[in-house]
Amino acid sequence: MQTREQQWWRGAVAYQVYVPSFADSIGDGVGDLDGVSERLDALVWLGVDVIWLSPIFESPMRDGGYDISNYHDLNPMFGDLAALDRLIEAAHELNIRVLLDWVPNHTSTDHPWFVESASSTTNTKRDWYVWVDEAGDAPPNNWQSCFAAVGSAWSRHPITGAWYLHSFLREQADLNWDNPAVVAAAHDVMRFWLDRGIDGFRIDVVHNLGKDPDLADNPSIIVRPTPETAGRRLDEDHWPNLWHKIAGIRSVLDEYPGTIAVGESYVLDAGRLAEYTRPGRLHLAHDFTLTELDWDATAFVAAIDASNRAVGENGWPAWILSSHDHGRLATRWTTTGALAPPGTGVADTGRAEAALTLLLLMRGTPFLFQGEELALPDATGGANLDVDGRSRSRAPLPWTNETNAGFTAGTPWMAVPETARALNRQHQRTNPDSTLRFIRDLIALRRDHRALRDGSQQISVDDGVLHLDRRHGEQHIVVSINMSLEPRTIDPISTPLLTRGTATAGGRVCLDPNGIVVTVA
Ligand code: GLC
Repeated sequence: MQTREQQWWRGAVAYQVYVPSFADSIGDGVGDLDGVSERLDALVWLGVDVIWLSPIFESPMRDGGYDISNYHDLNPMFGDLAALDRLIEAAHELNIRVLLDWVPNHTSTDHPWFVESASSTTNTKRDWYVWVDEAGDAPPNNWQSCFAAVGSAWSRHPITGAWYLHSFLREQADLNWDNPAVVAAAHDVMRFWLDRGIDGFRIDVVHNLGKDPDLADNPSIIVRPTPETAGRRLDEDHWPNLWHKIAGIRSVLDEYPGTIAVGESYVLDAGRLAEYTRPGRLHLAHDFTLTELDWDATAFVAAIDASNRAVGENGWPAWILSSHDHGRLATRWTTTGALAPPGTGVADTGRAEAALTLLLLMRGTPFLFQGEELALPDATGGANLDVDGRSRSRAPLPWTNETNAGFTAGTPWMAVPETARALNRQHQRTNPDSTLRFIRDLIALRRDHRALRDGSQQISVDDGVLHLDRRHGEQHIVVSINMSLEPRTIDPISTPLLTRGTATAGGRVCLDPNGIVVTVA
């Protein structure tokens, strides 16, 4: 059990840094660790407490670094170990904690472990991956890769003719976490980085570590699997073999007091998700339910309420509204609030701000994805947009109005969209009405009010307006967000502390669509 002090993550604001697109310090067109170190002041100014760095390990970069070929060294495109040490030191001096993105479910097929494992059926590392040696010409079962374009989650390896499991790309082979040698090697990887002074990990697809030991067909396989369905059977709650693996991970973290793990647990059922953060398991587990919802107050309230009930009074949610895998908030929905097909959303800054208000002021730890504080729209077009459309949120950040938006002095690996350049940070920082200044105000409000940081929460909806009632001791704060498409009038409990998109008349507050009012009783 962590002490209150060690539970710093409860009140924290977390920020996801997608390293290739954050800031380039050497002009090769790719963001890097020194680029992050040099721009930490922007995150301090915003009020960020902890950053999660997207994968920086050695990798052939077939899946943005989620295909690791060496867990013990960095991809030189991001810098060397000394650059990471500099970043950790600079961040800690500024009271910012640092989480690394750890990918324990699979390695690149270039990883020496896989190369050895694939070399013969009798190799000592054969059991480090999931092999089926005698399956014949058809894949061993019906499991599908999470990437629809890949199809079966099994490929045959040319050396031995056996099938190996890959829940993602063919170049990302699943490790066999039922092998104690794999678990021991994974724990060594954790200690290696914790010893360098990091504050913990975001754990990639942690739900996938538990697999059906019989490798039986998944009866719920659907045409387009979600990350949750890969390698698992939906008709079972969880493969029970997941929990002792998670407990083992937790026990390593407990050797380093104050460090944490946040799971990328792509589980859209509140009850099942809450299992990940039971005592002795992970500190936090990302809740993705809101990323899949139309802009609809009733649906949001139901999901937020379900999550809070499932984790209970002592539990704590971790919210994600966008990431490197999702579209951006400003372009997520159509004008009527339906989820827009990728690449079709029309930018709506007010809606992005309303969504971020919810993210930052509701109960739980918010994870802000880089660029959301600027209300950036999705990037469209361009040669670097990959097949599954995920790079739309991965374009370089706009820092200034200069060529390439101050991201790089060279040629950026992915074009900085013109629309993004107009939203650059320097401009927004000096403009009092900007999204950036608004997000900073929200974070400050949260920091200054315990009720918002770790108070209780009642959530309700009234005629399309979402209300959060947050309390701690005597402190009582009400946040109202108009998620309907029409103006709505409310009677605030006191003089508003913060408003956006509102007009006041005779003590009543009229909220425009996406209008926000925060009051303290
Ligand atoms: C996670 C990552 C995603 C990656 C996948 C495979 O879902 O967020 O970007 O492709 O895992 O590692």
